[in-house]
Amino acid sequence: MSIDVAKLPELIRDKKRQVRSRIGAVEKVLAEIEAEFAAEVEDIASRRARGEASIPELDFSLIRDGKVSDATKAQIRRHGAAVVRNVFPRAQAEAWNGQIGDYLARNDYLNKAATRDAGDRYFTSLKSSRPQIFGIYWSKPQMEARQGAPMAETKAFLNRLWRFESAGKKHFDPDRECTYADRIRRREPGDASLGLSPHMDAGSVERWLDPAYAEVYREVFAGNWRAYDPFDGAFRTATEEIPSPAVCSAFRTFQGWTALTRQGPGDGTLQLLPIARAIVYLLLRPLGKDVPDDDLCGAKPGRALSLVEQWHALLRPAISPIPQVEPGDTVWWHSDIIHAVEDHHRGSGYSNVIYIGAAPYCAKNAAYLERQKKAFLAGESAPDFSAENFEIDFDGRATANDLTELGKRQMGLSAW
Ligand SMILES: [Fe+2]
Repeated sequence: MSIDVAKLPELIRDKKRQVRSRIGAVEKVLAEIEAEFAAEVEDIASRRARGEASIPELDFSLIRDGKVSDATKAQIRRHGAAVVRNVFPRAQAEAWNGQIGDYLARNDYLNKAATRDAGDRYFTSLKSSRPQIFGIYWSKPQMEARQGAPMAETKAFLNRLWRFESAGKKHFDPDRECTYADRIRRREPGDASLGLSPHMDAGSVERWLDPAYAEVYREVFAGNWRAYDPFDGAFRTATEEIPSPAVCSAFRTFQGWTALTRQGPGDGTLQLLPIARAIVYLLLRPLGKDVPDDDLCGAKPGRALSLVEQWHALLRPAISPIPQVEPGDTVWWHSDIIHAVEDHHRGSGYSNVIYIGAAPYCAKNAAYLERQKKAFLAGESAPDFSAENFEIDFDGRATANDLTELGKRQMGLSAW
């Protein structure tokens, strides 16, 4: 592990000193990004007020047929997010939803969960602390959705929006996918137990202090932030995260989920801040004179990187609800995209999803698969998550026999 958390204040001061001397005219750069992002935020907020979408949408059939327009690809790159509709037939997603409900009920999940301390402190720094997340990884519907052929095609399309080769090096293989087993959300109508406040995953202080992240954001830390490309894959697969329950240690081009129920604005579901380059603002804002020298605007090790009202209020008006989605639709957001889950579910139906992100084949993800496949075979929680291990004795859990050939490859159980 490259970051010594005990020395964090010192490391932060050093980094700031280094970046300041590199940039030189810090105040000028801060004024530039303030103006740039204020305009971008205003554009998104006013479009939303007019009822226009900022989050690009496309139908899976365009991906299948290789007919996604360059304009749509440019929109996804700009906004760092996409809704891909009809990846799975509605009936299939609805059946999965029912099967997951049966799996949870048959195995008495809720009672078992209530008697255990989850030990998952990932979100304790966020205002909202009890997400409607179930710690199951290996139900048959989850495995079927992950290994579905349309899912693989969708991920390959999204991976290919990135530059995956440069300087004679292949950063990842966009066409081979590693399954990153995540959990499910199952949220009852009327639920007001708070969602998730705005944050991004994939590291907090690491984004400033990890050597590979320093390369990922090299243009930003040099003050040349307009040259920063959020879709440049170089060094992305080499970052090292501070170990913590529920911090993702795989490389994901996009986080994502597959809808099992209809859900949209107000249904206790996802909100996105659809500006792929907004990370620039988060990275440089700590250089402001008003921020203590050993502080990164509230970033804490081993936690989500939160949007903090005191420091990042400028960005907040761009946070936008996803459009209404139907069972079988999928939603995707770049690993640097700020996202939130609405505090209150004011809708009339469950808002349920299976979390499935895109983790293309690279050494980092292949190494994760080795750990994950042991957890799968034993029915334990996936290795990045707190070791609740609910499913060890669950009836009806998926086994290797439920995997297709593609599924086995994606799980590291058979060679590509
Ligand atoms: Fe998240």
